[in-house]
Amino acid sequence: MKTIVVLTGAGISAESGCNTFRDNNGLWRKHRVEEVASPYAWQQSPQMVMDFYNERRKKLFDAKPNAGHTALVKLESKYQVEIITQNVDDLHERAGSSNVYHLHGELKKARSTVDPSLIYELDEWELKMGDLCEKGSQLRPHIVWFGEPVPMFEKAVEIAKTADIFIVIGTSMAVYPAASLINYVSRGLPMYYVDPNANPIPGNENMQIIKEKAGVGVPRLINLLLNN
Ligand code: APR
Repeated sequence: MKTIVVLTGAGISAESGCNTFRDNNGLWRKHRVEEVASPYAWQQSPQMVMDFYNERRKKLFDAKPNAGHTALVKLESKYQVEIITQNVDDLHERAGSSNVYHLHGELKKARSTVDPSLIYELDEWELKMGDLCEKGSQLRPHIVWFGEPVPMFEKAVEIAKTADIFIVIGTSMAVYPAASLINYVSRGLPMYYVDPNANPIPGNENMQIIKEKAGVGVPRLINLLLNN
């Protein structure tokens, strides 16, 4: 069975109502990263950080997977599908994808500030100051903030190396190390990039660009891959 490795970004969840970061109405147009998504922000104004993630988590509880997410599940009937996502939403899992790896953490989880191995599922949208782990320390969003290490990256590199086909969906490829994963994919194999603003990625001129929204471009690509 051939392996398809998929790298997704905020764009695949845009049609589910989740904001992207760098589009015109993106999150980084309304918030400063250093105020809501960094260890410094957490130290300076933890409530502002909590509010930023609570607001997104509240929307996520109402969001639904879209046709892009569900099309990737259909691929599993013919391929081994490994999804490496930069997204912190759980829409790939809720769509039914079997193998999902979150490079930047998970919005519906919280973790201890004294023991990072203590991770808790959040079954409601609000995480509050005063919510403590079993060791009595404040819980924080289980998110990789700017300036923090990306623990899942080594695993993602291993997975990228197993790809027979590589698909990029809905990401500006602006953030590292996530964007460097393409460099670990064997040369010359079929590559696709689904994004309305996709541009050729230097060194990967063989990549087929599909300038469509995920909800249109991904089902079309999946049908091609299932029927070829
Ligand atoms: N379908 C597909 N792609 C879309 C859609 C859509 N409906 N709408 C927007 N896009 C594309 C945009 O063209 C853009 O290329 O999604 C991409 C979103 O880019 P970013 O906002 O930069 O999001 P992303 O690439 O996921 O950011 C990476 O940066 O801020 C950090 O941790 C954060 O994981 C995030 C990382």
